[in-house]
Amino acid sequence: MQEASAMKTLTLLGIETSCDETAAAVVRLDEDGRADVLCSVVASQVAAHAPYGGVVPEIAARAHVEIIDGVIRQAMDEAGLGFDALSGVAATAGPGLVGGVMVGLSAGKAIALARGIPLIAVNHLEGHAVSARLDAEVAYPFLLLLVSGGHCQLLSVAGVGACERLGSTIDDAAGEAFDKIAKTLGLPYPGGPALEQLAMGGDAQRYPLPRALLGREGCDFSFSGLKTAAARIADTLATGAEKRDLAASVQGAIARQLSERTAHAMGVYAAQHKGDRRFVVAGGVAANAAVRAALQHEALARGFSFHAPSLKYCTDNAAMIALAGAERLVLGLTSGMDAAARPRWPLDEAAAIANPVGTYGRKGAKA
Ligand code: KG4
Ligand code: ZN
Repeated sequence: MQEASAMKTLTLLGIETSCDETAAAVVRLDEDGRADVLCSVVASQVAAHAPYGGVVPEIAARAHVEIIDGVIRQAMDEAGLGFDALSGVAATAGPGLVGGVMVGLSAGKAIALARGIPLIAVNHLEGHAVSARLDAEVAYPFLLLLVSGGHCQLLSVAGVGACERLGSTIDDAAGEAFDKIAKTLGLPYPGGPALEQLAMGGDAQRYPLPRALLGREGCDFSFSGLKTAAARIADTLATGAEKRDLAASVQGAIARQLSERTAHAMGVYAAQHKGDRRFVVAGGVAANAAVRAALQHEALARGFSFHAPSLKYCTDNAAMIALAGAERLVLGLTSGMDAAARPRWPLDEAAAIANPVGTYGRKGAKA
């Protein structure tokens, strides 16, 4: 097991461009492995993609090219540092929209080359995995639910880069389900936060929705049945109150599935791990209050401590990339200038190769 134990304080610039946020951050990791975020700049492209109801890869890549320099400059200014203060530069190298990933990775390579400092090509999912460590001390090992727009998986995380996949979605990611159902309710992109807003005060029991995989073996997820059922109901709704109740019912159904499947994973994990049991939820959907509450309830009932990043570190950001890079740098895990941008890059490559199609159906494009 690898536990980050820095020999000296490291200062990392992180760069994130894998989807629709252009982000740069500066993070310090001290001798005791504690992180300090000096600044975290996130320039969202939401307005550029909103007319299309989702992220358009070509628009995203162009927007990253246009603003990446300014976002990095702003991060260095806010941190009050020159480039000579950096111990290394960490950039997301995948998985994600490859045109955008290439922009951030190239910027990272250019800075590393010009300054003669190490480059660390970071897996975006590893960034999410360490995100709860940005503003709290969460020791390895832990059970992780990574739940975002492109990913929905349960992982046993032993240390830096040491993940074992326990389960993942067999169709859509939870964030994708939030986004697609929100669209059928006429809500703007991104749908998750909009649906959470609409659900406030709604009756979560009003519309019975499918409970996929309930009681089934394993730790996989499925959201496509829920999506179809919700779309069918949405077509019949007339009043604002009905829409509010459907939003609350959908949110409740997603929270319930996430907590039920996670409870299953907790059983598997607890059988393997004696002593302290930690549970971490990360990714954009971890920003949802109902989801957090359901998972916290499950964790505490099963003897796990509960950890979630603060809301600003749930959705995509570069602070998590800088921290993942710093933890890798401590272990000497740096990258060459030939590091490639990867549209797909599973955290647990062994599991992904051994079981590429899941037990129940096709893996989602980004699962
Ligand atoms: O982690 P993230 O920013 O990007 C990916 O790596 O995918 O996650 C974005 C996803 C979107 O699907 C968005 O709708 C969802 O997270 N999301 C939420 C909330 N905030 C973001 N879903 C439900 N409730 C929220 N409050
Ligand atoms: Zn993400």
